[in-house]
Amino acid sequence: MRAAVSGQGDDGLTALFEAARTVRARAHAPYSRFRVGAALRDERGVIHAGCNVENAAYPVGTCAEAGAIAAMIAAGGRHIAAILVYGDGAGLVTPCGACRQRIREFARPDTPIHAAGPDGIAKSFTLAELLPESFGPETLGE
Ligand code: THU
Repeated sequence: MRAAVSGQGDDGLTALFEAARTVRARAHAPYSRFRVGAALRDERGVIHAGCNVENAAYPVGTCAEAGAIAAMIAAGGRHIAAILVYGDGAGLVTPCGACRQRIREFARPDTPIHAAGPDGIAKSFTLAELLPESFGPETLGE
């Protein structure tokens, strides 16, 4: 289902969408030419954004979600209340497997993950839907 991203009463989705769209334009993606932006809201309501940063040594490149999470941690945030990923792909642009695990470190099973593109939010998931039966900090039992 395609959700609206403008107007009031959208749970702050418009701000997340615009932050991800804006940061995506700054992506460093000369190799894949696939730009991605991610924006998340932390437990204080602060938005943090990141884009993919590729590298000539390909495996060293980092995903947009990793950048947004690093920005949150550096700014003092500790929990992801919601995250939106913006890309322009042939299909849904959802977080890659590694990024699902990165998100999982700072989120709860019901945390919303929105997949968006130029036309708006294409589909919304919970973390548990994208990463069921996951391994996390509490699994360590410490
Ligand atoms: N990419 C992301 O930034 N996030 C994802 O969840 C999927 C993939 C980036 C990595 C790489 O720079 C480009 O998209 C193509 O895979």
